[in-house]
Amino acid sequence: MPRLADGFVNELKGRIDLFDVISPYVQLKKSGSSWVGLSPFSQEKTPSFYVHPDKGFFKCFSSGEGGDAISFIQKIENLEFAEALEFLAQRFGIPLRYAEQSGSRSKPEISRSLKSELYELHKIVTDWFHQRFLDHNEEAESVRKYWLDERKFTLETAKEFEIGYAPVDGFALVKFLSAKKFSEIALQKSGLFREGKAKAIGPCVLNGRLIIPISDKLGRVCAFTGRKLSQTPEWGERKSPKYVNSPETPIFEKGNLLFNLHLANKDISEEKEFLLVEGQLDAIRCWDMGFRTVVAPQGTAFKDTQATLLFRSRPKGIVCLLDGDSAGQKAALSYVSTFLKAGLEARFAQLPIGMDPDDILLGQGQEAMQNMIDGALPMVEYVVRQKIPKLTAASPKQKESVCQWMFSSLVDIDSRIALEGYIEQLGRLLSVPIDALKVDLARFRKTRTPAYRNQPSEKEVTQKVPDRLTIVEEDLLFVLLHDDRLASPLAHTLDISWVDSRPVSGRILAKILSETNAEGSVLSRSQIEDLLEDDQERDLYHRLVMQEIKKDEPGLLLRLARQCLNVLFLRHLKRQEDIIFTQLKEVEENTDKLSELSKALRSIRQQRSNPPLLEFNN
Ligand code: UTP
Ligand code: MN
Repeated sequence: MPRLADGFVNELKGRIDLFDVISPYVQLKKSGSSWVGLSPFSQEKTPSFYVHPDKGFFKCFSSGEGGDAISFIQKIENLEFAEALEFLAQRFGIPLRYAEQSGSRSKPEISRSLKSELYELHKIVTDWFHQRFLDHNEEAESVRKYWLDERKFTLETAKEFEIGYAPVDGFALVKFLSAKKFSEIALQKSGLFREGKAKAIGPCVLNGRLIIPISDKLGRVCAFTGRKLSQTPEWGERKSPKYVNSPETPIFEKGNLLFNLHLANKDISEEKEFLLVEGQLDAIRCWDMGFRTVVAPQGTAFKDTQATLLFRSRPKGIVCLLDGDSAGQKAALSYVSTFLKAGLEARFAQLPIGMDPDDILLGQGQEAMQNMIDGALPMVEYVVRQKIPKLTAASPKQKESVCQWMFSSLVDIDSRIALEGYIEQLGRLLSVPIDALKVDLARFRKTRTPAYRNQPSEKEVTQKVPDRLTIVEEDLLFVLLHDDRLASPLAHTLDISWVDSRPVSGRILAKILSETNAEGSVLSRSQIEDLLEDDQERDLYHRLVMQEIKKDEPGLLLRLARQCLNVLFLRHLKRQEDIIFTQLKEVEENTDKLSELSKALRSIRQQRSNPPLLEFNN
């Protein structure tokens, strides 16, 4: 790719709307002039991810990430700057504009990014494999026979998933690609070829196999899986494996991808559960039979990163359809802590031993499968029943051991509500008092977790301080954030020393008021956001911004502001008075100091009958 024209980057940014860039990844809600949603960069439960399309930047208060459309794409897609530009240009149909060729040969031409070349290569290869599947020759016919007769799939499904065939002649693909203009490095890095002599490109690693293209969450093919067939050559002396998957490449990270996620995501909602199966063909079968939220990991164990991918789609939960054999069940138990950590609800279906979802759907049909899904056990119950098959005859020792197992996963849960829920389920299933479980969990935390985790978080400490639900600083902050006409009058009328800056709300309030006075004008949302210094401040700020005013009663906020101002004023006077009283106890009688204090006291009492008045221009 030649060098991009000067100014192209700004032109690109100007032509795209940041909302359109971000909304496929984050569900955004309107909040004032900006949009807000759950951060795609962390697993937060309260939205702190702000998008300002008019200003062209985003800010994530939980991870601190921020930037423009290009840096967002770089981060979320894990791309280099040039790749992100290509990505955006392609997505919004904006032609890349290049600098005029100056004719000087000295300027090195920046080559097209490797990743984009690899995506294109995979696209072309997918099509080529698919054509080989449809060919009219003996090899292709035997593959189609396998697909149609043995596996009982249809040609429509083969087209939908672009099922392919890699000919036994491993060099056929190399020959085809040599006519295309791919760089040597892209061919090497594609993971599709063995290394030949003197580092030359060797034969295709998938030769003689049925090909299932693997797409990333945007639907771009980034890898392949090859299923062994009768004509698949063995590997010398060794038998070749049943499945061969692309190795990890610059565009394929196994742990960061789930087969069929791009399609399942179209169907997922807060009311729907993902179905998690083990094999790609199981996933295709499920999809085919109407179970459209199915996904499968890449022939490896299910990883935290994959749980995060699912979490981002905000499903109701996950239903695991794992093999009924002991390996499958063991795997299932390891999934539990992954799900808990990711904040995902999960259920586990009990499949008959030795059967996978494909076998069940083919042998017993859709309804049998639906029944197994409906009967899937919630996570906690599944663990308990796995560990104690005869629950009614469970010994105290068995119960304790299950609890210890659960605790090791439960300590990673962020949400108190979720934690309480799981503890409650555990108690009910084991007929153990909840209080006993809580005591044991606390003990478990102490003994099993590193010291720093035993420290209560700052948040927990402050949550205990106020007895009331809100404090006056918080109320006033709420008012300020919801009606900016009040900001200037408040900054004028309210003496900042009246604000208690120990609680988080007080800190924010004091900063906003002094900044408003300094600026001499009302602060914008983003100016306010710039004042926030830590997560506590950001959390509270967003909670208050998001909190809706129940009734749109005119003058409601002004009245609330007046009340708050009055409370702050009276509290301030009370404190002054208290100081004087203490001093009064200490001074000698008939001294100058005494008369001075008495005078001050009278002045305070006079002030009390003269509270500040808050006016504002409509
Ligand atoms: P299974 O052996 O249960 O295969 O492996 P399957 O999906 O039922 O395949 P069919 O129905 O016999 O064709 C489950 C999954 O584990 C991975 C694949 O992703 C497979 O779908 N696997 C299995 C491999 O990656 N390599 C292997 O050699 C075997
Ligand atoms: Mn199978």
